[in-house]
Amino acid sequence: MPMINTKKIQSMSSPRGVLVSLFFLFLLLLLLPCTTYAKLRLHYYHNTCPNVESIVRAAVEKKFRQTFVTAPATLRLFFHDCFVRGCDASIMLSSRKNTAEKENSDNLSLAGDGFDTVIKAKEAVDSVSGCRNKVSCADILAMAARDVIALTGGPSYSVELGRLDGRISTKASVGNHLPHPDHRLNQLKTMFASHGLTLTHLVALSGAHTIGFSHCSRFSKRVYNFQSKTRIDPTLNLAYAKQLKQLCPRNVDPRIAINMDPTTPHTFDNAYFKNLQQGKGLFTSDQALFIDPTSRKIVNRFASNSTAFEHAFVAAITKLGRVGVKTGNEGEIRHDCTLVN
Ligand code: HEM
Ligand SMILES: *[C@@H]1O[C@H](CO)[C@@H](O)[C@H](O)[C@H]1NC(C)=O
Ligand SMILES: *[C@@H]1O[C@H](CO)[C@@H](O)[C@H](O)[C@H]1NC(C)=O
Repeated sequence: MPMINTKKIQSMSSPRGVLVSLFFLFLLLLLLPCTTYAKLRLHYYHNTCPNVESIVRAAVEKKFRQTFVTAPATLRLFFHDCFVRGCDASIMLSSRKNTAEKENSDNLSLAGDGFDTVIKAKEAVDSVSGCRNKVSCADILAMAARDVIALTGGPSYSVELGRLDGRISTKASVGNHLPHPDHRLNQLKTMFASHGLTLTHLVALSGAHTIGFSHCSRFSKRVYNFQSKTRIDPTLNLAYAKQLKQLCPRNVDPRIAINMDPTTPHTFDNAYFKNLQQGKGLFTSDQALFIDPTSRKIVNRFASNSTAFEHAFVAAITKLGRVGVKTGNEGEIRHDCTLVN
């Protein structure tokens, strides 16, 4: 109707129209940070440091030969980095007053070998004159995570690069950003969705628990005092629960950590999903994936088809690597991964 059209045109030049336009501009600006991942690309350092991937791989392999923990520690460090303030290596920053992300209580369990892997790889990159201070710590962490997956028998994939390092790291920002082993599916789904990750991404990425260790305190409630009447979590396989009690007696040394995958703890495979089918998910958050019928379907698919798991994992970790990426003047290329420039 012509009447309405004129009104619309008039309103554009009115103060209200300006407000409306400003509102949309604001919305657009809000959306921008989510789309900056588009700037990530393969071979980002082709002109600045063409051999960066082989330099990083050699450093990671060397560290892996020294200790297996290199693999799970680096992979988990990448996940935590991306979930807190985006994949910007802010997790690597230390602070004088213990206020940085890594000083959060969850760090108790971030093995130092993950940090060390990135520091060693950065040293190796910077020892090549042309590459010095050209490659971000965030990208080195993304490459190192890719390398440890391949080193433990998982899929090889091309890693997107072009992240800048963040300048801010606070313990407080860890707050509600990391999933908890007691979380149920809905809480996990919400948390992953807030980073643009779907249920399939969540299930695939949880498969990372096919390697690595957990401290007893993270699941002991499930075998000792689940509820006043039923001591043991009924979703746990009983034989596995008994095994867990043996590995983690009451008042166990808090430094003791056990394998998260009881079958092939050193291999990045789909055993994690087969374990879930048998009630052998170590955390409530693991077993939860097999309780809900929708996610159970995905678990069953990954358990019976390792190719399907590998494809889904690569897609999911690529998506994870785009979370909150910093470009332009939002970040920098740190000279020392533990300090802002
Ligand atoms: C879905 C929600 C998740 C929860 C609740 C969770 C929780 C945990 C907890 C409690 C531990 C044991 C830490 C310890 O006691 O030392 C752990 C270990 C680990 N997590 Fe997760 N995690 C989740 C998702 C992920 C994802 C998405 C990845 C990577 C893609 C990942 C990789 C790892 C690895 C590799 C370890 C072993 C660390 C080591 O051995 O040093 N986790 N996780
Ligand atoms: C946090 O991680 C750093 C680096 O590995 C380590 O030096 C520090 O002791 C850890 N903090 C806690 C509370 O474990
Ligand atoms: C396993 O998954 C792959 C990749 O999704 C698919 O191409 C293949 O057909 C699947 N195999 C079976 C036996 O379902």
